Amino acid sequence: MTIAITSQGAPPLLAVTGLVKTFSAGGRPPQRLHAVDGVDFTLARGQALGLVGESGCGKSTLAAILARLTDPDRGRILFDGVDLTAVPARRAAHAPWRRRIQMVFQDAGDSLDPRLTAIEAVARPLARLNGLRGAALTRAAAEALDRVHLPAALFGRLPHQLSGGQLARVGLARAIAPGPELLILDEPTSALDVSIQAVILRLIDDLRRELGLACLFVSHDLNVVRMMCGEVLVMYLGRVVEQGPADAVFDHPAHPYTAGLAAAIPRLDGLRHESAAPAARRRMTGEPMSPIDPDPDRCRFDPRCPLAFDLCRQRMPVLTPQAGTPAAPDAPPHLAACHLAGGTGG
Ligand SMILES: Nc1ncnc2c1ncn2[C@@H]1O[C@H](COP(=O)(O)OP(=O)(O)O)[C@@H](O)[C@H]1O
Ligand SMILES: [Mg+2]
Repeated sequence: MTIAITSQGAPPLLAVTGLVKTFSAGGRPPQRLHAVDGVDFTLARGQALGLVGESGCGKSTLAAILARLTDPDRGRILFDGVDLTAVPARRAAHAPWRRRIQMVFQDAGDSLDPRLTAIEAVARPLARLNGLRGAALTRAAAEALDRVHLPAALFGRLPHQLSGGQLARVGLARAIAPGPELLILDEPTSALDVSIQAVILRLIDDLRRELGLACLFVSHDLNVVRMMCGEVLVMYLGRVVEQGPADAVFDHPAHPYTAGLAAAIPRLDGLRHESAAPAARRRMTGEPMSPIDPDPDRCRFDPRCPLAFDLCRQRMPVLTPQAGTPAAPDAPPHLAACHLAGGTGG
């Protein structure tokens, strides 16, 4: 077995290989919906990795697999050298690594127990995962709530007595309290008003730096990912189509899908996105391919791609290093899965 080595020379905190998750789609013969279809990546300690792509591309399914809330059909998840898939999801709550990987959900209001006060919501998992009791437990829960700047006067409030932003803070406190090394955030601010989103995003960024957390940050919003993450994975219908340093991927998209996404969304600084392939900046047209038993020898993006040609219907492109993208010496490689993307030829 080979263990991928990150640019810093240390083994990655998280190394994912060949993850596949399908769901039954009924039919006779039985059909399968391919939600996550062969995903590989690594995440270094303390790094923020963004996961972007349109609704339905498999982001939440991938996040749930990594948080061990659901089992993959195939694939391996190595976390600090430990194979997480050795324990099925239904028993993961009691796994020794459970404290070290925490999840932040899209809607904190929905994910919090309506009968627990803010401090109880934070204390519950702390008691289970860290074995704290009594005054030590209360102190640790209060410390976590202080870290997310929830006023102490609100510690005894129930979820329905808190605002959206306050609920998001409680959700974050609950996730960081056990002392995780990896935080998985699935659209953590998309249920919030825009003005509150920016405040919570800054808080997440501060917590990540202060606590040295690695983050997998799921969002359909490219600007948010660009602001929050040094690296990015772009997913399309269950597959990673492009990955690399966020600046390289967004400023020099190599996959026509990424170029289309980047062109469709105005940048905060008002600049236009430059693409290596100007034709790819044309609007994406056509219907996405069905995720039900898709042709394994056809590029998933083919039906919507302005640049598609014969090969795209004969062979699935694989992730290939991109030449000519300016990058820092220790930056992760820029990869794209497109027959037309400018590979290094090596
Ligand atoms: N529990 C499930 N049962 C059946 N299909 C599912 C289930 N969860 C997700 N899917 C399907 O898997 C695909 C990926 O969904 P999801 O991971 O939620 O995408 P995203 O988070 O990117 O919007 C979609 O086609 C969705 O309909
Ligand atoms: Mg989702």
